[in-house]
Amino acid sequence: MTHGSIAVLSARDVRFDPRTDEFHADPYGTYARLRAVDPVHRSIFNAWVLTRHKDVCAVLRAHDRFTSQPPPDVRSAMERTFPPRLMEFRDCMLFQDPPVHARLRELVGNGLGGRRFAELAALVSAAFEDHLSLPQAAVGHDATALTFALPNRLLAALLGVPAADLPRLAQWTAVLARVAELPVKAADLAAADDAHGELSDYFGALCALRRRRPANDLISEMVARQEADPDRYSAGDVTRMAVLLIFAGNGTVGNLLTNALYLLATNADQTSRLLANPSLVESAVEEILRFESPLQIGAAGGYWARTAVDIRGRRLAVGDRIIALLGAANRDPAQFDEPDTFDIGRRPNRHVAFGYGVHFCLGAGLARTAARAALAAVVTGRRRPVLTGAVRWRRVFAARALDRLPIAFVPADR
Ligand code: HEM
Repeated sequence: MTHGSIAVLSARDVRFDPRTDEFHADPYGTYARLRAVDPVHRSIFNAWVLTRHKDVCAVLRAHDRFTSQPPPDVRSAMERTFPPRLMEFRDCMLFQDPPVHARLRELVGNGLGGRRFAELAALVSAAFEDHLSLPQAAVGHDATALTFALPNRLLAALLGVPAADLPRLAQWTAVLARVAELPVKAADLAAADDAHGELSDYFGALCALRRRRPANDLISEMVARQEADPDRYSAGDVTRMAVLLIFAGNGTVGNLLTNALYLLATNADQTSRLLANPSLVESAVEEILRFESPLQIGAAGGYWARTAVDIRGRRLAVGDRIIALLGAANRDPAQFDEPDTFDIGRRPNRHVAFGYGVHFCLGAGLARTAARAALAAVVTGRRRPVLTGAVRWRRVFAARALDRLPIAFVPADR
C-alpha cells in the first residue's frame, strides 16, 4: 500500500474493525490507511487507536500521563464481565504502574538477565538440529509442531517445571490467551477462568515445593527473594509472576519462531543472503520481529489517560482508553525506509515489538536468544525452508500468528 493511493482517503473512510475478513486479509493495509489519514483513531471499541511509531512510543513512555490501571467505572464493568479468578490476573505487574510495578519487576531480579541463556540456546539448537534430521523435515510437514512446543520447554527449564507437566501448561496458557483478543468472546471467559485458576494452583504448589526443596531455577530464586523480604513480597506475588511469565512467553516465542520460518520460506533472496552471511542472524531476528510482530498491541488491552490530553489535535478525556498498535508502528514509513520490505540487514531497526518504556518486555533477551539459536541451526544445517502448501493465519488481532505452516527444509546448496 503506497501513500499515493491513500492520499485521496479521509478520516471518515477508514475504520478499524479487526473482526472483518477485510482486516484479516491484509491488516497492514488497514494500518497504513489509519497511519496516513487518521493516526489517532476513535475506534468502535470505545478506544483511541494509535498507529504511528512516534505516538506509540510517546504514550508507552509516559506512564505519568497514561496508566495501566483502568478507571473505576471500567474496572467495575470488567468485574461484572470477567469471572473473579480471572480478574486476579490483573494484579500482575503487566497491569500495574510505578512504584508497584517496579517493586514486582524486581522480584525476578536477574533471573531473566542472561545467566541461563547459553543453556537455553543449546536447548533450542538441539531441538532444531534433531528436527532437521527427521525424514519428514525434508518433505512437507507442519512446522508449528516444532515452533509451538519449544517455547514451553524453554520456559519450563527456566522456571523449573517438570517435563511431565508441560502438556497441561501448554493447554492452560493457550486457553488463557484467548481473553487477550478483541472483542473477548463470552464463551472463552469461563474456560479462561478455569485455566487461570489451574495455573495459579499449579504454581502455588510448585512454589510451596521449592520452599521446602530449593532447586536451581527461577521459581526457587523468587521464593528465596520473597522469604528474605516478606514485607515487600507476598507468596501470591511469586505465584502471579510465574503465571505471567509462562503466559507472556509461550505463545509470543512460538509466534516468533513460526513467523521466522515463514518469512525465510517466503523471501528466498533474504534466506540466500543469510546463508551466505551468518553474521546477519541478529539483524534478521530484529527484522522478523518488526515485519511480523508476534504481539500486535502493547499493554494487553490498553492504557488510560490520567488527564485530558491532545494527541495530533484529537482531544482525549480523562479515563479514555488507548490501544497502541505495535504492528502498525513497526511499518511506519516515518520511522523505517521502505517499511513493507523485509530486509534482514536493516539498520537501524528501532522496532517496538517488545513494547517500550517501563513495561518493556522482560523476556526480550530470552526471546532473542531462542530465535537466534533457531536461525543459526538452520544456517549451520545448510537448509532452506520452502512452503509446500497454504499457510493459515489465526483469526486473531492481538497477535500475528500462524496455526499452519507447511514447509520442507531443503538442502540450501542444491
Ligand atoms: C517474541 C517474543 C515476545 C514478544 C514479541 C513479547 C512482547 C512483549 C510486549 C510488547 C510487552 C509489553 C506489554 C506492554 O506494553 O505492557 C511485553 C511485556 C512482557 N513480557 Fe514479553 N514478549 C515476548 C517474549 C516474552 C518472554 C519469553 C517472556 C518471559 C519469559 C516475556 C515476559 C514478559 C513480561 C513479564 C512482560 C511484562 C513486563 C512489565 O510489565 O514490566 N515476554 N512483552
